[in-house]
Amino acid sequence: MTPFPERVFSGIQPTGNLHLGNYLGAIVKFVALQKTHECLFCVVDLHAITVPQEPNELRAAIRKIAAAYIASGVDPVKNIIFNQSQVAEHAELAWVFNCVARMGWLNRMTQFKEKAGKDRENASIGLFAYPTLMAADILLYRATHVPVGEDQKQHIELARDIAQKFNNDFAESIAANGHEGGFFPLPEPLIQGPAARVMNLRDGLKKMSKSDPSEYSRISLSDDSDTIAQKVRKAKTDPEPLPTDKDGLSGRPEAENLIGIYAALNDSTTEAVLQQFGGAQFSAFKQQLVDLAVAKLGPIGAEMRRLEQDSAYIDSVLRDGSQRARAIAGPIMNQVKDILGLIR
Ligand code: TYM
Repeated sequence: MTPFPERVFSGIQPTGNLHLGNYLGAIVKFVALQKTHECLFCVVDLHAITVPQEPNELRAAIRKIAAAYIASGVDPVKNIIFNQSQVAEHAELAWVFNCVARMGWLNRMTQFKEKAGKDRENASIGLFAYPTLMAADILLYRATHVPVGEDQKQHIELARDIAQKFNNDFAESIAANGHEGGFFPLPEPLIQGPAARVMNLRDGLKKMSKSDPSEYSRISLSDDSDTIAQKVRKAKTDPEPLPTDKDGLSGRPEAENLIGIYAALNDSTTEAVLQQFGGAQFSAFKQQLVDLAVAKLGPIGAEMRRLEQDSAYIDSVLRDGSQRARAIAGPIMNQVKDILGLIR
């Protein structure tokens, strides 16, 4: 039914160290999707400045995300890898969307509430408007599919609402400009899989995040083998052996999380992992998890460290990707201006 060709867009913020949640919730999907789709993978640096950033750290963090994409197996020739701020149309379309989205919609965003905390009056306007920039990221390329972790679901739903409202509000002008079936697609989130929400290793009820004060709460992509092993061994568990089926995981968030991580790293399913380890003690399972995590993540971390030494190469990838991204974004932004009645 959709008149839009399939196109994938996703992004990661250059803030803090990338962790296993970012890898399994997002990057692993990027690596798979590049085989079947036209893809753009962005380092969303304009999102990072919605909270204070130290310039030298930000520069390093932007390169680090690009290095992580490449080290994980995203091909920078086949796909477009770029940083958001080099394509001015992201900010331009975000402004248009600030005028389409409603205050009430943004007031419902749970991530803003979490990030702003109690001191909402003191949060930046950028932090509040963050989801309209995210909608612009996706819709600037008329992307149809967005691989993300579960925590981004609400933002993608907002992007769909914005696309729908734009299509409705300007329906006549959109048709007059020769576009059939609306101007923007309603993008679909790609969230499924056993690691859609990787949890904190010290508390299975909290999400694994860059901001938790404890390094033991997460595995970072830059961790070496010993650190990965230590973090898995220290991960919180319960005293029971592992269950044999999924029902046995209910009320056992830490067990569910570790099984999900194993399944995702092994490109398998929770059911298959439980079949293999059901009845085993955590100590035996953890050893297998360490071996798997070190085998999968070790080479990525090593390649990231190598690429980070070569900032000229990373910068050339970002420049090239930005140029290719602009070639898609420019004409779409021009069409948006025509639809709105702006003279160009
Ligand atoms: P960010 O930078 O916080 O996270 C990057 C990606 O990692 C996923 N993720 C997780 N997945 C599973 N378990 C976890 N514990 C976990 N933590 C993070 C996130 O869901 C995300 O896919 N707003 C976005 C960045 C963004 C974006 C976009 C994404 C900006 N524009 C356009 C897609 C399309 C964010 O802050 O992700």
